Amino acid sequence: MKILVVGTGAREHALALALSQDPAVTELHAAPGNPGIGALAALHAVDPLDGDAVAALATSLGADLVVVGPEAPLVAGVADAVRAAGVPVFGPSAEAARLEGSKAFAKEVMAAAGVPTADPVVVTDPERAAAALDTFGAPYVVKDDGLAAGKGVVVTEDRAAALAHALACLAKPGGRVVVEDYLDGPEVSLFVLSDGAHVVPLVPAQDFKRVGDADTGPNTGGMGAYSPLPWAPAGLVEEVVAQVAQPTVDEMARRGTPFAGVLYCGLALTSRGTRVVEFNARFGDPETQVVLARLATPLAGVLLAAATGRLAELPPLEWRDDAAVTVVVASSGYPEAPRTGDVVEGLADAAALPGVDVLHAGTAAGADGAVLSAGGRVLSVVGTGPDLAAAREAAYAGVGRIRLDGSHHRTDIARAAAGA
Ligand code: GLY
Repeated sequence: MKILVVGTGAREHALALALSQDPAVTELHAAPGNPGIGALAALHAVDPLDGDAVAALATSLGADLVVVGPEAPLVAGVADAVRAAGVPVFGPSAEAARLEGSKAFAKEVMAAAGVPTADPVVVTDPERAAAALDTFGAPYVVKDDGLAAGKGVVVTEDRAAALAHALACLAKPGGRVVVEDYLDGPEVSLFVLSDGAHVVPLVPAQDFKRVGDADTGPNTGGMGAYSPLPWAPAGLVEEVVAQVAQPTVDEMARRGTPFAGVLYCGLALTSRGTRVVEFNARFGDPETQVVLARLATPLAGVLLAAATGRLAELPPLEWRDDAAVTVVVASSGYPEAPRTGDVVEGLADAAALPGVDVLHAGTAAGADGAVLSAGGRVLSVVGTGPDLAAAREAAYAGVGRIRLDGSHHRTDIARAAAGA
């Protein structure tokens, strides 16, 4: 099978790594990929947001499957362009990706499908935004309606900060914000594959969104993740499939915009039950790194089944007993003002450790084979082991071998869950 992966980050590196380990995969390509993916796949300098260019590349390669990683190409219709060219694609249409592209649309679908979530108020003017903040009270939750590269959601006790975020979102062309109740309780990410009708859940993971230890500092794209979640209630996955994923997929099909791809269910396990915090229309980053590290079933056939309406024919997924932990190494200044262009060293040393994979997130090729930082999140170091403590030890041993001037990482990823 020839597969083209679209995207540049550690999630795409994790997808490429899993696909490269699938004996059914004969050729792996990435557009545009990154230096880490380049060790596994042929890289193509194609704009991942240009659907026609991605479709032309897929056709010229004779690809059997295109896997679209990030949300921006999905919302821009890249999957539609590839599908129109007759190539199977893992990733929803632009219409279906509105589940991520518009928070207000996602809330509307959830209401229609009876999916439990925080009641929202959608506002388009500053006065209503201020009134909605006062209605809900602290902690304030303000979400940009549209895509905002991980910067769209602010949760704060500070009313002035909440209002400032709302005003900044409203100032954008067509700006809308969703203000909603704060959902207490631990958060869980569950990815559910869909072929438009049937759903297949993966295993739950937990993400660490704040930049600093003990959940301090600003939100980021995610500073680390782990799986399994020893504290998660039994039956959580079945509950989310029955109460969240299947009703949502059914509702999207009923609207004539079937959702095929991965529905990322961001959940809060609140004192009043499981609630959806957000939907995304793609795999989460960095949770994918730990979920795929635990998947024993070869990945290509699973993604192809979702892309071609054959999930019901798929045998049950098999999972390794191993635990997985990933720690993100971020550049100086991330998330506010990430510095780029620094040399990243120690990659081979880290990857040589047992149970360690070093996935590239924001890197670029420098002169003489050097790897340079090229984004806020630079690496996602994945450790696996027989339990979370061992996986954590492996991940942090890997991080300890990396040298990147000014870099920082959280030291408490999976600490509580591992009982460390
Ligand atoms: N880990 C958060 C996200 O992928 O959006």
